[in-house]
Order: sequence, then structure tokens, then C-alpha cells
Amino acid sequence: MNQALKSPAIPDPYSIPLESIDMSDSSLYEAGAHWDYFARLRKEAPVHYCANSQFGPYWSVTKYEDIMAVDVNFELFSSFPSIVIGDNQDDLELENFISMDPPKHDGQRKAVVGAVSPSNLMKIEPLIRQRVQDILDSLPVGETFDWVDRVSIELTTQMLATLFDFPFEKRRKLTYWSDMTTASPGVAGDDSVSEEERKAALTDCLNEFTVLWNERVNKDPSENFDFITMMAHAEATRNMKPMEFLGNLVLLIVGGNDTTRNSISGGVLALNRNPAEYDKLRADPSVIPKMVSEIIRYQTPLMHMRRLATADTVLNGQHIKKNDKVVMWYISGNRDGDKIENPDQFIIDRKNPRNHLSFGFGIHRCMGNRLGEMQLRILWEEIMLRFSMVEVVEEPTLLKSNFVAGITRMPVRLHPL
Ligand code: HEM
Repeated sequence: MNQALKSPAIPDPYSIPLESIDMSDSSLYEAGAHWDYFARLRKEAPVHYCANSQFGPYWSVTKYEDIMAVDVNFELFSSFPSIVIGDNQDDLELENFISMDPPKHDGQRKAVVGAVSPSNLMKIEPLIRQRVQDILDSLPVGETFDWVDRVSIELTTQMLATLFDFPFEKRRKLTYWSDMTTASPGVAGDDSVSEEERKAALTDCLNEFTVLWNERVNKDPSENFDFITMMAHAEATRNMKPMEFLGNLVLLIVGGNDTTRNSISGGVLALNRNPAEYDKLRADPSVIPKMVSEIIRYQTPLMHMRRLATADTVLNGQHIKKNDKVVMWYISGNRDGDKIENPDQFIIDRKNPRNHLSFGFGIHRCMGNRLGEMQLRILWEEIMLRFSMVEVVEEPTLLKSNFVAGITRMPVRLHPL
């Protein structure tokens, strides 16, 4: 498989003035053309100012160490009011703890973190394995089908339904709400969905979950570890306003959905594009835990997180003003050769494979990172017991977004052992 071809409409990054580079342009990612742009920025302008974009002016931070410096300094770089480049444009004023600073952030995170604690993960591991086995055993061997729909979406959606204790038969609604949250022209540059459709979907989401909330208020929180029961009983979350409840719902839905989904698809694609690595995996499946981290680095499912400077400051020689938007491009930091050896290569038995930025750092470091890794590990263990190859048979379709590194369709064919 070749890398996705660049669209003719997208210029070579070295043919345009440095100041015209705008990494918020979602068509770069849809065409898979962003890599060379980031390479130029890392070399020539690691902290780069874009004065004009669809989302207003913003700084791009593209080197690993500079990203870390921003991520760990929540006092100087605030997550409020949003962690994506585009500000919320609809009248749904969603609030959630990824877009908050301490102390409010800390209380709300603490309210739900138990659902993904190591002890809870150990409890749900057999269930995840069973669901993975069922999904894999239902696939048509030797026929072409869409891996994204049948495996990546199905598995992560089943997992989310479990974490929310959401009605299993209605689980695809979670997928839909997740897509609607991140798909918005104003927020991530995805123009396939109107603001009206997005608003209607999120209102439906709030209504469905309000019914569940009202049931769970009466449940015993020491016996029910789903996100809703936890929020309904914790001091920091039990009196949330509707838009705060909705905000935290969609945070948990997107957090556990798009990310793992695209790591599942991205891993299959990376192995197809690097056949020697697939051979290594067949020869020694014990490499799977390391490979999972490498997949998450290589895919970088959430490409950026945005902050707002709370005071004038200097970052790698650049003068950032109070209230400037500062965007940390994890997807670029993960390809920084000063920090990661051979960063553009996919190496499944890499040394220090967890040394990547895909889960962020600091107080907002991904809450579900161990769960995401566990799902991927189990999936690959079960794939290797069944199939000698998951072959990608057509170029995948990439998502038009500057936030989620997404694969929306990827036809594959399974080869039995
Ligand atoms: C491969 C899988 C995943 C990736 C790459 C990923 C990535 C991220 C990133 C980049 C952040 C923000 C970090 C920062 O700002 O410094 C984050 C935060 C978060 N993630 Fe994940 N995530 C994944 C899986 C999950 C799962 C399975 C859940 C479970 C529900 C989850 C829930 C969250 C939550 C709630 C936050 C907000 C944490 C806070 O603000 O304190 N994530 N994730």
C-alpha cells in the first residue's frame, strides 16, 4: 500500500511563505498532506504564528519538548474555554472538565476516574475479550468488508456502552453522538455536517442520558461503577447544569470512542504499509504490548490540544501574548527526530515505546489511556490467534478534521491461519 496521494490543490509546503502556513486547514489531513508541513515547521519555525485562519490567529507548537513545556504548565496555558482550535459557535455552551482548570477540573475528573481504575479494568478484561472474540468470529473470511465499521467502531462502541451501562441495542447512538460532537465546521473544519444537525443530535443525547441519570440517582454507587452513577453521586458532579452534564457526557463519549477506534484502524494500516513489521509480529506475538504503544504514537488519534496564554510569555524565543491561542500539535511532536529515533518509521519493537505525546501530559493526561491500550492489546492477541493477515485491499478514506486523525472507511480481506 502506498501513502495517500496528495491532492493537486494542496501546494508543496516549501513553495509557500512560512507565514502563510495554516495547520488548522482540515483539507491537509484529509489528503494526508500534513507531514511535510509539520517537518518544515519543526525545522524552520518550531513555535509558529498563523495570523489568519478560519479560526482566527493562533500559535503552532510542533517540537516535543516545547509541547511538554506547555502541557505541564496549566497556570500559564489554560484549557478554558476549549481545547480545540475552533471556539464553540453554536448556542450549546458545553462545559466539561477537559476544558477546565483546577480546582473544578480536579473534582470532576476524580468523580469518574474510578470507572477506569486498574481494579475496574481487571474486572472488565474478560468481558472485553469475550466481545472481541465475538466480533472477530462474526467476520467473513476471504470476503472484502469495511474494517472500520465491522471492527473499529463496533468494538469501541460496545466498550462505551459498558462503561456507561447504556442500553446495548441502542449503542450505535453513542457512535453517532461522538461523530456529531467532533464533526463541525466551526470546531474542527469538517463541513459534512451542519450546525443544526449537530445541535439536534446533542439535544437527543442529553435527553436520553437524563432518563438514565434519573434512574441511577437511586442506585448504590458502591456497587455500580458506570460513569452515570458515579457522576450522579459525586459531590463535584451531582449538581451539574444540563450543559455541563452534556459536556461531560460528550467528553467521555469522544474520549473513549474516536481515539481507540482510529488506533484500531491505524494499526492495521501501518502493518500493511510495513510488511517486515507484520512478519515480526507473526514471528513473535509477545511484542503486542510494545506494538500497541507504537500504534498509538504513529497514529496520534487526537492531533492537537489547544490552550490560552494567561500572561505574556516567551516560548522557544517567540513572544506569546496574554489571551493568544497556543496549539500543541501532538502529531508533530511524535515525529520529532530530536526526541524519537527514526520517528517516521513504524517499529513495533521500538525501545521505550510509551515515550510519546498521544495521551498528553500534566493534569489533563488521558484518563482512559490504560483502557485504550488494553482494548488494543486484547484485539491484537485475538487477531493473531485467527488470521495470518488482515489485508487492506483499497486505499482508506481519511477524515477531514484538524483534530481527530480519523479513518472513515478501510476495505480489508482476512486470511485465515
Ligand atoms: C488510544 C486511545 C486514546 C488516546 C490517544 C487519547 C488521547 C487523549 C488526549 C490527547 C487527551 C488530552 C491530554 C491533554 O490535554 O494533555 C485525553 C484526555 C482524556 N481522555 Fe483520552 N485518549 C484515549 C482513550 C481514552 C479512553 C478509552 C477514555 C475513556 C473514557 C478516555 C477519556 C479521556 C478523558 C476523560 C480525558 C480528559 C482528562 C482530563 O481533562 O483530565 N480517553 N485523551
